[in-house]
Amino acid sequence: MESIRIRGGKRLEGTIKISGAKNAALPILCATLLSDGESLLRNVPALRDIETTSALLRFLGREVNSAPPVVTVKGFGTDRPIAPYELVKQMRASVMVLGPLLARNGRAQVSLPGGCQIGSRPVDQHLKGLEKLGATISLERGYIVAKSSRLRGAEIVFDMPTVTGTENLMMAAALAKGKTRLVNAAKEPEVEELGRVLNKMGAIVTGAGTDVMEIEGRDELAPFDHAIIADRIEAGTYMVAAAATGGNVLLENAPLEDMASTIEVLKRMGVEITREGTAARIQRNGPLKPIRIETMPHPGFPTDMQAQIMVLSCLAEGESTIHETIFENRFMHVPELARMGADIETDGSSAVIRGPRQLEGAQVMATDLRASASLVIAGLVARDETEVLRVYHLDRGYEHMEEKLSGAGADAVRVATTAY
Ligand code: EPZ
Repeated sequence: MESIRIRGGKRLEGTIKISGAKNAALPILCATLLSDGESLLRNVPALRDIETTSALLRFLGREVNSAPPVVTVKGFGTDRPIAPYELVKQMRASVMVLGPLLARNGRAQVSLPGGCQIGSRPVDQHLKGLEKLGATISLERGYIVAKSSRLRGAEIVFDMPTVTGTENLMMAAALAKGKTRLVNAAKEPEVEELGRVLNKMGAIVTGAGTDVMEIEGRDELAPFDHAIIADRIEAGTYMVAAAATGGNVLLENAPLEDMASTIEVLKRMGVEITREGTAARIQRNGPLKPIRIETMPHPGFPTDMQAQIMVLSCLAEGESTIHETIFENRFMHVPELARMGADIETDGSSAVIRGPRQLEGAQVMATDLRASASLVIAGLVARDETEVLRVYHLDRGYEHMEEKLSGAGADAVRVATTAY
């Protein structure tokens, strides 16, 4: 096992380069299943989730050369449309091979992803949408078994905006006969990015990034060459780290245009964010002000930034409140932060945070990648030493986090540990 050891109290000063977006790369890797030939993805982050998806594509019969930031996926003829439990259970986003496999091969057998630490994570919207496109779906021994001669375009109205649900159905619709209309679609930038890729492949996608999308399916799609957008959640995470340490950091490639709600919250807390060309400078000189937020689907405040902003509110002068509306159990970082001296009370999906608090270093761990990131940020400002255990959770979504932080002045190193 590996952990990250941090000696707190250092201001972050320097430059951090933002990598490609994990949650854009994952659906785009699945989209390679929609065509024969060789697709090329650029600006792909070096993450565990990328390796897991590459392993799944290989299992399905594709030739994958994963050398981030470049990944190529090659395939000819039908794939073996079975996504096994041992791969899907590592990463729920694997469910996004269902739409492409079904659309291209007429059948697919994908393990139900099961829940995870942040919630039950159902996929009912994915399945209802595929049935609307003409698929027959059954659940057999923990697997989703989907069959269809040829998917046909339809109108699908989501009960709630679902990011991977929208993406799964976009990909299925791209090979369906006729037009599909997705209503109450997720509007995340990563959804919009998938729309751009499907258009490159020959589908006609309009309205991606808005709540009503139309996809004109084709009989056949072409492989693509695409450079992935930057990761707005990674960028937001380092903005919080810079603000927490009272630092002065230049973030290269930060996608500010996709981060309005995060930037608004940080500015309200007293953080200065200024654009410098294609980079963003983050500074915090004065005291932090408390905040009241609730997580919302894009363009609202992202649930993937909730744990990070909670750490910042521990340092603010006053009482902050956070209401998590997307997932039912996304406060696992709270007991760990409390062990570091934070004053946080939770009641269901709401948390009240009182500050300012001087956090104390400790051995901590989390099981949600964003919660793990929040513990690293806490370690940056805590007295003495913090060890964040089970760093493989962090490696799912953050590329070389300890290197990027120490490159900006943090005292953070990755160590092998026997602690569990
Ligand atoms: C995506 O997960 C992201 N993952 C998550 O990021 C992110 O937290 C989440 O969207 C919300 O923004 C990827 O893009 C790979 P949802 P997803 O379907 O698609 C309910 C990270 O940290 N729902 O938008 O699984 C669901 O329970 C990860 O990078 C249904 O009820 O989330 C939740 O309450 C964590 N039925 C809400 O919708 C369904 O069929 C939103 O979930 C689907 C979803």
